Amino acid sequence: MSQAAANLSARADELERRMSQELDRLMVKSVLFVSGEHDPTKPLPLPAQDEGGRTRYFCMGPDPRLAPMPERPTLLDFFKYRFGPAAHLLQSAALARKAGHEEKVVLACLLHDIGNIGFIRADHGYWGAQLLEPYVDEEVSWAIRAHQVLRFYPDEAVGYSYPARYIELFGADYKPEPHIERAYRRIRDHKWYMTARLITVNDIYSFDPNAVVSMDEFVDIIGRNFRQPEEGLGFDDSPSAHMWRTINWPNRFL
Ligand SMILES: [Fe+2]
Ligand SMILES: [Fe+2]
Repeated sequence: MSQAAANLSARADELERRMSQELDRLMVKSVLFVSGEHDPTKPLPLPAQDEGGRTRYFCMGPDPRLAPMPERPTLLDFFKYRFGPAAHLLQSAALARKAGHEEKVVLACLLHDIGNIGFIRADHGYWGAQLLEPYVDEEVSWAIRAHQVLRFYPDEAVGYSYPARYIELFGADYKPEPHIERAYRRIRDHKWYMTARLITVNDIYSFDPNAVVSMDEFVDIIGRNFRQPEEGLGFDDSPSAHMWRTINWPNRFL
């Protein structure tokens, strides 16, 4: 073999070694991912780094089991590659649009549950609002945060009753906790109350599995009302960029 060919072959071997090492990174779950199944006050055992005389590294970037994300991911990329099914959001937004509501209400309906489908379920309205805050009108993120609380309180004047679905899901005796009651009173008196209320009015609790609404229908509204950062969500140094990065790379060691 000539020297050049030998160099090339050594380079190819090195590349292959690096690639298999990348695919072979050790994954560790955050305490939050396993809390409950695992007692969070007990140490979470880390997988052994050395096996059969070779060292394995922990994941410090993308998880190779997940679909690769573009370098500068957009909101739509997150819907496509990281969020769970969005039929509920699309149907809610479609209902709001059909009712003739303004774009910010349609956008709020479209994004109101991204906490659930992409991040953390508990307190999803708060997490969703925090994720979105740097990129949308203040009224939109305020309303998304408030819907967390308003869902539990009827407003018969606008046709919103306590959802029958909640009785099925949480039992008839579930009563919102005092911090929710306090938040409700503040929201009730707020100038943007009705924006948040409209999220609950258009929130479809028993959504139709056959009604197909496409994200394409909302691309324009997103374009006009969501400030997509040039660097990509997660890499733009906004106050919530780290949250988008965590959704992108959920199993990064640190
Ligand atoms: Fe919700
Ligand atoms: Fe919802």
